Amino acid sequence: MDENISDQAFPDYRLFGRRQDRPLKPRQQRLMAELLPTVAITKDEINQASHEARPIWLEIGFGGGEHLAWHAARNPHVLLIGAEPFINGVAKLLTAIEEQKLNNVRILHGDARDLLSYFPAGSIERMFVLHPDPWPKKKHHKRRIVSPLLLGEAARILSPEAEMRVASDIPDYIRWTLMQVQIHNRRSQDFGWSASCKADWTDASDDWPQTRYEAKAIKEGRVPTYLSFRRLSPKAKGPDARSKESS
Ligand SMILES: C[S@@+](CC[C@H](N)C(=O)[O-])C[C@H]1O[C@@H](n2cnc3c(N)ncnc32)[C@H](O)[C@@H]1O
Repeated sequence: MDENISDQAFPDYRLFGRRQDRPLKPRQQRLMAELLPTVAITKDEINQASHEARPIWLEIGFGGGEHLAWHAARNPHVLLIGAEPFINGVAKLLTAIEEQKLNNVRILHGDARDLLSYFPAGSIERMFVLHPDPWPKKKHHKRRIVSPLLLGEAARILSPEAEMRVASDIPDYIRWTLMQVQIHNRRSQDFGWSASCKADWTDASDDWPQTRYEAKAIKEGRVPTYLSFRRLSPKAKGPDARSKESS
């Protein structure tokens, strides 16, 4: 089978900024050359992993990978898959994999959109989109990763009751995300947002570690918001949705 991961379903807008900032240190260069090929996710592996009982969690845009490594270390029964085009971030995660001897992490060094269509329906148990690039100008909103296409793919690949976490310190991005979910739900009521009091979105749960970007945002006086959505199962959606889905 072709090992290259690529998908044309999403439009060809670039969604991310720089692919690299500082030059890699010698250790990072070695990890990119030697360790990355052994942990790079392939279509075959996605296929195989989705037929195993082991849960799969997916992080889109893992930045420096500290959040992903944190979960991988505490959840050895889970396969953590992360996608990130930023080379310095990938190199940081590889360092964590080597130092912490993590053997349950797979990486796509590239655009997460190229990965999504390879996951079978209902194969992901948790998905993280943490502090996505804000693209503040209106003409760039189409580049925001939280989009109708992403939510459509998320609804397909998340298993019933799976969790999708989105965090941002940009109020407009939070509004945008809630609106995108609402628009998606008008067509197909796939996502539930179970927040019942303010603390549900102002406080991160104990198993929601801070990311590098988030720490910087807090230091600069911005306030993160944490959104946790559930992939509704047909039962939770009610009888109308159930009969629509089965028809
Ligand atoms: C603002 S940073 C946040 C990084 C990290 N989640 C954190 O909170 O520290 C957004 C990240 O998303 C990545 N990104 C943007 N578009 C992406 C895409 N289509 N696929 C995967 N990663 C993407 C960027 O390269 C960048 O590292």
